[in-house]
Amino acid sequence: AAAAQGQAAPFPFREIEAGSDAHHHVAEGHDADILIRWGDPVLPGAPAFDPLNQSAAAQARQFGYNNDFVGYFPMPGAADPAGHGLLVVNHEYTNEELMFPGLGRQDIKTVAFKGMNRDLVEIEMAAHGGSVIEVKRNDGKWAVVPESRYARRITAETPMALSGPAAGSARLQTGADPTGRAVKGMINNCAGGTTPWGTWLTCEENINYYFSGALAEGSAEAANHKRLGLPGNAYAWGRFHERFDLSKEPNEPNRFGWVVEIDPFDPASVPTKRTAMGRFKHEGAAGIVSKGGAYVVYQGDDERFDYVYKFVTEAAVNLSDRAANRDILDSGTLHVARFDADGRGAWMPLVFGQGKLTPEHGFASQADVLVEARRAGDLLGATKMDRPEDVEANPKTDKVYVMLTNNVKRKAEDVNAANPRPDNRFGHIVELTPDGGDHAAPGFAWEILVKCGDPAIASVGATFSSATTKDGWFGMPDNCSVDGQGRLWVATDGNSPSKTGRNDGIWAMETDGQGRGTGKHFFRVPNGAEMCGPYFTPDDTTFFVAVQHPGEADEEDPKAVPATFEAPSTRWPDFKDGMPPRPAIVAITKRGGGRVGS
Ligand code: FEO
Ligand code: CA
Ligand code: CA
Ligand code: CA
Repeated sequence: AAAAQGQAAPFPFREIEAGSDAHHHVAEGHDADILIRWGDPVLPGAPAFDPLNQSAAAQARQFGYNNDFVGYFPMPGAADPAGHGLLVVNHEYTNEELMFPGLGRQDIKTVAFKGMNRDLVEIEMAAHGGSVIEVKRNDGKWAVVPESRYARRITAETPMALSGPAAGSARLQTGADPTGRAVKGMINNCAGGTTPWGTWLTCEENINYYFSGALAEGSAEAANHKRLGLPGNAYAWGRFHERFDLSKEPNEPNRFGWVVEIDPFDPASVPTKRTAMGRFKHEGAAGIVSKGGAYVVYQGDDERFDYVYKFVTEAAVNLSDRAANRDILDSGTLHVARFDADGRGAWMPLVFGQGKLTPEHGFASQADVLVEARRAGDLLGATKMDRPEDVEANPKTDKVYVMLTNNVKRKAEDVNAANPRPDNRFGHIVELTPDGGDHAAPGFAWEILVKCGDPAIASVGATFSSATTKDGWFGMPDNCSVDGQGRLWVATDGNSPSKTGRNDGIWAMETDGQGRGTGKHFFRVPNGAEMCGPYFTPDDTTFFVAVQHPGEADEEDPKAVPATFEAPSTRWPDFKDGMPPRPAIVAITKRGGGRVGS
């Protein structure tokens, strides 16, 4: 009965063809317009983008690289709240080979950093972080409001606060910050969330990439750093900035890997890393208010064999007084999920002193439990998942969707009921039903919504409904969004001609009734790109999507030539000689108005 109550109608739009080319494609009857690209002005006085003469100073005023999460906040008091607001965007990471002329492909494995120098590293640091832009719709077309007083660039150098139980801990103190409460910047911000009190949650994910250098022999942080894959040695930052060199600053990584809360309406506000929400490779932080009024934030830790978490605030959200929620995310309980074989599941609290989270297991405080949330989850017997990415609740049904993107390292002997496929190349989606429809409840039921991949290849074991066409199936679910009618939309990362015969994109996904498990292809990204962001305006008339790293090569294709600034796999979206491909935000609208996807 609960499902029938929230049951959403099938998707009426006409499906696009799955495939790959240099362009983006959207379902008939829709427009998909470029809103802002890497290098476009954000702050007043930003110079025009000049790819051959980049500088850190210019980049710090321009839109950053690799847009991932997108959130929209209606402008309070606006005549058209769905047509005028603030857009917040994460800039997850940088593709040096596509950004910088003459650099060529960087090989992470050899830690060669060929051609990287201080200037290029500083451009990269300025291209990370996030952007706040004011956007407005005029005659159905979106544009960035120039010289907005809300415009903001956040980079890897922006001063931030650490708050909550781990703030001030000795393990968060460094030479530059003996207080353990002040950190510079956020890095590798992947997905995120928007809170009902009007703040942006932005999530630090693969923070290990930025650190290099060896810890001192016998360092107390050795096991902790190893569990997060430190040092990742993917970037040359540690050569020019001591804080990214583990031999100089062993505690700096403990100041990354958090959820950062930012007030987009106050450009002078200090972004705050909320340590109560735990430290791991945060994919996203989509929240919902529970029956009792607590704010419940679902979180995936994107690593093979890592966990799904939720954070439940101690206090109730106050929807009538924005300021009352200012530090609500500093007090609450982090939980980690166990999925049992009988279709039940448990949220286990990560609380110092409870269970094995005690001094005899190496935890001296709640700060330790939060800094090493993964190890705490290990000790509680949390279920090892196939790379948890976005986790989002459907407010119409109170079901929760967990994107499990893939895990090629899972062997037949270590499958579990919630992750049943060995060599899980295409991922799956798990649906949770909180007990009593209460997101704060300690128990839930779960089932697999769909196992992804090509249903025409029996050995893949995909479970899309039989109504799904050759275009409607997908692999590697990553981000997702629930529209105002309670319908699920899935964005993918990792489809390519060699792996699935198609580029990444957005697929609508039916979750209820006869059509449950039917995928339908809505949007396709250009070659080399991954699909991020997707976010609906409150009335579903605009769907903002983020096209990340267009122009990469299909790495699994043995015939593919490495993609570079000079020879990308597409020059989307400008298609001009000499202009590199540029990650960009696309605004999708229904031609003539109306709900997207109708
Ligand atoms: Fe940055 Fe898990 O994707
Ligand atoms: Ca990404
Ligand atoms: Ca992602
Ligand atoms: Ca991904």
